[in-house]
Amino acid sequence: MEKVKIAILGFGNVGTGVWKILQENKKEIMKRSNCQIEVAKILVNDINKKRDIDISKEILTDNIDDIINDESIKIVVELVGGRDEAKQYMIRAMKAKKHIVTANKLVIANWGEELFKIADEENVLFYYEASVAGGIPIIREINESLTANRIEQIIGIINGTTNYILSKMTLEGLSFEQALKEAQEKGYAEADPTSDVEGYDAVYKLAIMASLSFGTKVDHDRIYREGISKISAVDIEYAKKFGYTIKLLAIAKEENNKLELRVHPTLIPSSHPMANVNDAFNAILIKGNAVGELMLYGQGAGDMPTGSAVVGDIISILRNNVKPSELKALNDDADFKEVKKSEENESEFYIRLNVNDRAGVLGDTAKIFGGNNVSITSITQDVVHKEHVLLAFITHKSAEKNINNSLKKIKELENVNEIESIIRIESFN
Ligand code: HSE
Repeated sequence: MEKVKIAILGFGNVGTGVWKILQENKKEIMKRSNCQIEVAKILVNDINKKRDIDISKEILTDNIDDIINDESIKIVVELVGGRDEAKQYMIRAMKAKKHIVTANKLVIANWGEELFKIADEENVLFYYEASVAGGIPIIREINESLTANRIEQIIGIINGTTNYILSKMTLEGLSFEQALKEAQEKGYAEADPTSDVEGYDAVYKLAIMASLSFGTKVDHDRIYREGISKISAVDIEYAKKFGYTIKLLAIAKEENNKLELRVHPTLIPSSHPMANVNDAFNAILIKGNAVGELMLYGQGAGDMPTGSAVVGDIISILRNNVKPSELKALNDDADFKEVKKSEENESEFYIRLNVNDRAGVLGDTAKIFGGNNVSITSITQDVVHKEHVLLAFITHKSAEKNINNSLKKIKELENVNEIESIIRIESFN
């Protein structure tokens, strides 16, 4: 049986998971890859750091050159995260004729084409299953199982941290701040939670999925993004009253060769399976023109689930040496698809206003919506203070442009104190 040496760059959470899987499932992995995998080197910052895992110091190094210059190492598993350093390590490894497995969504979403081009030139393989939704095999699903389809839409809960926070707010009535603190204590959210909470993490993952699904380059800067930090307990309660649950959704749709790409908090019907995806779980709903709707559910982060995707990629490289699909080249005009501006999109909306309790304010507001071709489905109001009333509306499907025009005028009404919330609704039609 062939022996294959690999190196792991970074020995944090995921690196440790990869190590554990390679030890615990050694027999199965050997059978399925027909190879004996040896972790020859692991790149760490501090060789002497105390680790929970029993590992020989001999294989630890703090010098990337020990890996790049070792011709016997055939696969490099990049798990250092971040941007520039990780990218440079991968380029150097490919130039030294090593195959790459990475979990780095940031690098793939930003420089995927450049890296795939180098992989092509150097005749090495580049796998990145773990970059999107951790243990859920979404990249392989799009590239292989669903390759007979034209994918029409992907709707996902692809950030575990925000899903944990929203679940705690919905199911236990915690405030955003309390839920964030719990997520940090549990190790889901980072000390600086911006990337998760403000939707950047989901944007990178959506860019990768959309590129593969729609066969086009997707610039992540063109994806509409809104985080969950402004979601209040009041909105969670109103959503419930109207029969909805709030989730951070990543949405990619293709219609008439135009793409709709957005990440934002969304009201979804509480009866939909996505509404019951709680805690740090992820779920992705794909609609293909042949297969119809398909939903994948699982753990989007964590040492073992993400490690499962990484080791799966290592085995794929050893097994068949088949090149995975690549994101489309930046300048490939033939495949370029236009991304719609947010104003061009249409959805139903939940809108909550804080108004003075005066005769006519509801009528004035409704008149403005009507005048801008925005039709109201439901309305509810509650007095929160002697003088102040919360007015919450659900609209029919409306153009965002019409919603924005209405709200500009509503804001100017004398008895409207504030537009407190505007959240899109996804009805999965
Ligand atoms: N921070 C991510 C999440 C996991 O909360 O889903 C890594 O992409």
